[in-house]
Formats: sequence, structure tokens, C-alpha cells
Amino acid sequence: MIELKSDRDREKMRAAGRVVAEVLQILTRYVRPGITTGDLDPVADREIRARGGIPVFKGYHGYPASVCVSVNDQVVHGIPGPRVLKPADLVSIDLGAVVEGFVGDAAVSLFVGEPPSPQAAELLRVTEQSLYRGIAAAQVGGRLGDISAAVQDYVESHGFSVVREFVGHGIGREMHEEPQVPNYGVRGRGLLLKSGLALAIEPMINLGGCEVNVLPDGWTVVTRDGSLSAHFEHTIVLGAEGPEIMTVLEA
Ligand code: MF3
Ligand code: CO
Repeated sequence: MIELKSDRDREKMRAAGRVVAEVLQILTRYVRPGITTGDLDPVADREIRARGGIPVFKGYHGYPASVCVSVNDQVVHGIPGPRVLKPADLVSIDLGAVVEGFVGDAAVSLFVGEPPSPQAAELLRVTEQSLYRGIAAAQVGGRLGDISAAVQDYVESHGFSVVREFVGHGIGREMHEEPQVPNYGVRGRGLLLKSGLALAIEPMINLGGCEVNVLPDGWTVVTRDGSLSAHFEHTIVLGAEGPEIMTVLEA
């Protein structure tokens, strides 16, 4: 069952999204050589709660932290810990919070200082841009496959690959609602997009092959070929005027 969001729900989704966006911005400012990924977790927890939110990742199927921090070949779901960030590391930060009963979920990727190569910089740019292509394709009257195909076509035309095993999702009172939102698919196919549909679109894009493994910690997803991976995510709600991004500052 897909619950379409009312105008009042949408206002609460904006509140949740704003908290996530603000805290993500704070976290990116902490990223510099010498900090550990674990240093980000108490900041995430504290800053979410300071804004009246509750972290949603913590305890989700036993996940042990309030934020995911995935470095270099780590795709998503990296657990904050003793790993020390080095110059040119590619860091993906994923954050979720519930505010007034609704969830916001977003992710950004960035380099610690300068990128290690022009190709790595291009991976980051293309991954972020693919998210905006997907969002632009999320139009009432269209189909879910329009979003998926927009992401996939853009990514693959630049020679990068789309992770298949993990996908975006519906979002609202729960972090993960129907439908699943793959970052690959066929235009014109799938669910009819309606006003009030809330989605988290989150391309996970690899510089090399699309295959991934999960580490023995049961969470950390890594590229099988060891290549770099980037991840961007926004929570959006569809309206007659087009898609509205919830996880932005001042939304
Ligand atoms: N943005 C991720 C997702 O949508 C975050 C989930 S991490 C978890 O799946 F630890 F909460 F599972
Ligand atoms: Co998500």
C-alpha cells in the first residue's frame, strides 16, 4: 500500500528534511584529514536531537549508529568507527531523522580536500547530477521507470556503473515504504506517479563494475573490484507543480 501524502504531511516532511539537510551540512564541515569516521556519529546524534528530531538509522535492523559513513570503495552503510580519514578520500555520508512523525533521508559525497584524480572528481559530479536527473523525471502522470532510466542513462553515458542490489524507496512515516526506486530501468514502465508520492532517490554509482559485496560486519557494502563509489540522496514529494525536494536548507 502506497500512502500518498496530504498537504499537512508534506509540511512535516519538509520539517524532517530540513533537519537532515542542516545536520548533513554540519557533518560535511567536520570532514578533514585526521578525524575518524566514528567522530561523526555523536555529532549526527546530537545535532539531530538538538533540532527536535530522532535518528532513524540507529537500531534499524540492528544498525549501531545514527549515520552511515562510507569511504572510497565502500558504497553505502559504512559503520562509523576508528578509520582515520586521509587526504583525497571519497567520503559518503548518509543521514536519516524523524521529525513530527515523518522521516527525512539524504546523503552526500565529498572528498577530503582535493580529489585523487580527475576521474574520481567526475564520478562525484556525475553521481550528484544523476540524482538531479532522476528528480527532474519524477513528474505526476509519468512512471517510476522514468526516474530509474533518467539516472541510469546519465550514469552509463559517462562510463560509470549503477549498483543494482540497493535501491531508493518510498518514504514517510517509515524510512522504507513502497515502492522500491531502482537506479536502473525502462522509461514508461512501472508505477504511475501521483501527487503526494514521497520518494527517496539515491543513486549509488561505481567507477568500475556494478558488482558489490557486503563485509563480514553485515552492513558495509563495498565494490567487488575495489573501485571508488559515490552516493547522493534526496527525499522528494511529487506535486502538480513538479517534484519538491524536502532535504534542502530553508525548504
Ligand atoms: N539511506 C539509507 C537507506 O535508505 C540508510 C539506511 S541505513 C540503515 O537505506 F542503517 F538504517 F539501514
Ligand atoms: Co534512503
